[in-house]
Amino acid sequence: MARVPIDLRSDTLTQPTDGMRKAMATAEVGDDVYGEDPTVLALQERVAGLFGHEAALFTPTGSLANLLAVRSLVAPGQEVLCESSAHVARAELGAHGAVSGVTMRTWTSPRGQVDLAAISDLFAPDMGPFFVRTTAVSVENTHNFAGGAILPLADLEALRSWTSSVSVAVHLDGARIWNAHVATGTPLASYGAQADVLCVCFSKGLGAPVGSMLVGSEAAMTEARVWRKRLGAGMRQVGIVAAGAAYALEHHLERLAEDHQHARVLAEACGVDPAGVDTNIVVVHRPDAGAFVAAARDQGVLVSAVGPRTVRAVTHLGVSLADARRAAEVLAAL
Ligand SMILES: Cc1ncc(COP(=O)(O)O)c(C=O)c1O
Repeated sequence: MARVPIDLRSDTLTQPTDGMRKAMATAEVGDDVYGEDPTVLALQERVAGLFGHEAALFTPTGSLANLLAVRSLVAPGQEVLCESSAHVARAELGAHGAVSGVTMRTWTSPRGQVDLAAISDLFAPDMGPFFVRTTAVSVENTHNFAGGAILPLADLEALRSWTSSVSVAVHLDGARIWNAHVATGTPLASYGAQADVLCVCFSKGLGAPVGSMLVGSEAAMTEARVWRKRLGAGMRQVGIVAAGAAYALEHHLERLAEDHQHARVLAEACGVDPAGVDTNIVVVHRPDAGAFVAAARDQGVLVSAVGPRTVRAVTHLGVSLADARRAAEVLAAL
């Protein structure tokens, strides 16, 4: 019988566990557009509290959470600054421009880091009819396309201090902030304090099938709630999926450390310095990314080409240590 492939394409590929399915099946629900779903309300309150903010709003996807977050900070015709391989710039298909009328300018950092000198060079104050005004900076922690790199808290604090001095807001794309928290021990509230609005995902390393959240002030969430409905994402008895997210937060947070360890096993095998692998994503530079991915697939290991010369492998709760070791052997041989 053919072996089941080891799927390292993304940490979004996890299957809900039996416990999670049970929690979802038995969730107490109500109409969330009416604000009456107790499971959603409880999760929003819990997550807002974890990050030290007033309120939170459940969304189906991280992309929608980011869209609502950025538009809550940046008006049409204004700009957000972000790193050039940030998910908001690269993988949200131009939504911030197409839907919110927001423009973007970028700085480039190989590990997706905050580069305060570059950011302050890009910054444009309000100059009336002459230049697009910068009203927010967006950072991503951990940084997906930079190989799950962590942004150090000190850098985020420095950014926060500078942005405050020029009245610019901060958006944190924390789709994988959980990984940064577990890898560094930094309290979630310390990350929360560095942003006006942040987005978190339950459907990545935490392993829920669906669900993200934006977190911020009561006023921002009230407005985002209107835009969520306007964009067609007002959900009704969505406590069924929020229960999966709540279960994931309760049961799958601390285990992210295992994914980080498995990523280091892969890194070593692929000749990537494990010290540079902060969390659950390993990026391998290959001149022949497409061919490498195809050869790995033929041997039962699924990885993805995220650029012509860039291969990505991601560990998650569906990948055991034995899987990581077997995948490491295959990748090393290639
Ligand atoms: C850093 C980051 N932000 C946002 C998203 C968007 O999440 P979703 O796929 O739920 O829209 C992703 C998805 O992988 C991501 O990696």
